[in-house]
Amino acid sequence: MADFLKIAGIPRQELIRLLDATSKNVPIAEGKAPNRTSLNGRVIANLFFEDSTRTRCSFETAVHRLGGQVFNLTPSGSSLNKGETLVDTARNIECMGVAAIVVRCAISGGAQMIADGVKCPVINAGDGRHEHPTQGLLDVSTLIEEFGPLEDRTIAIVGDITNSRVARSTTHALSTLGAHVRLVGPPTLVSKSFERITQGPGSVSTMTNLDTALEGVDAVMMLRVQFERAAGGAISSDYRQMFGLTPERITRLAPHVVILHPGPINRGIEIDDRVADDPKRSRILRQVTHGVAARMAVLEDLIAN
Ligand code: CP
Repeated sequence: MADFLKIAGIPRQELIRLLDATSKNVPIAEGKAPNRTSLNGRVIANLFFEDSTRTRCSFETAVHRLGGQVFNLTPSGSSLNKGETLVDTARNIECMGVAAIVVRCAISGGAQMIADGVKCPVINAGDGRHEHPTQGLLDVSTLIEEFGPLEDRTIAIVGDITNSRVARSTTHALSTLGAHVRLVGPPTLVSKSFERITQGPGSVSTMTNLDTALEGVDAVMMLRVQFERAAGGAISSDYRQMFGLTPERITRLAPHVVILHPGPINRGIEIDDRVADDPKRSRILRQVTHGVAARMAVLEDLIAN
């Protein structure tokens, strides 16, 4: 791979290779195995044009775990505030000799625009409503740790599907691996067109009744209502009652069912405290550890190898 911009189109064997590498990196991400030196002498640029906690910090941590160095650029205090474009910014940063650019931006397709404008590898850390491919990797890696191979497992992804780059990347990854994905939400936030995401042996269906959608699932991934992308106007005052994962709802799930959320969480809207913090079912913080491992795998794949 020259860049890592999307899960869509990644062949199954390539995905499995990245997931195997991610799995091997988990003990390092946990601090239980020694760091590596594969990025020794390399500098990575983290260009975060949108807010982030998990993705930005885990890319930083991943670079440190591989022996490289990293710096961050955010709009505040940068010449973006003087009107410099994303691509001009990236070209200037590239000329500082960086080994790769990690980019998050609000423009769907923004990571591709930057990749077209520079020669160094570009990693998409989330571009608008398009994709968040390292999130897709870490979600699937967390589920594989739980269940092993995901063929014929059923995963419900619930909430603001329309605005979710996570839903797109994770659905592509799951269907490539043969899982059955149910995309669930109010009709204003989930469209039948998402069923075309199907890639590989799995399947993708759309549903608008959460209680029906939860029947027979192995995992549930809740999504944040993205108020910053105007999703608030598309939800009604009974959203929690209709689409929230409440303690009452999880009592009806089979004992093996686990709960994910990419974060940040809107507590009391899409997920209640007792569910998010459920020690038996919640894998939300485990996803964060897999995030470091997945980003190590992608960085090594693009740069060190
Ligand atoms: N999951 C995710 O992308 O979180 P951040 O926005 O905090 O990076």
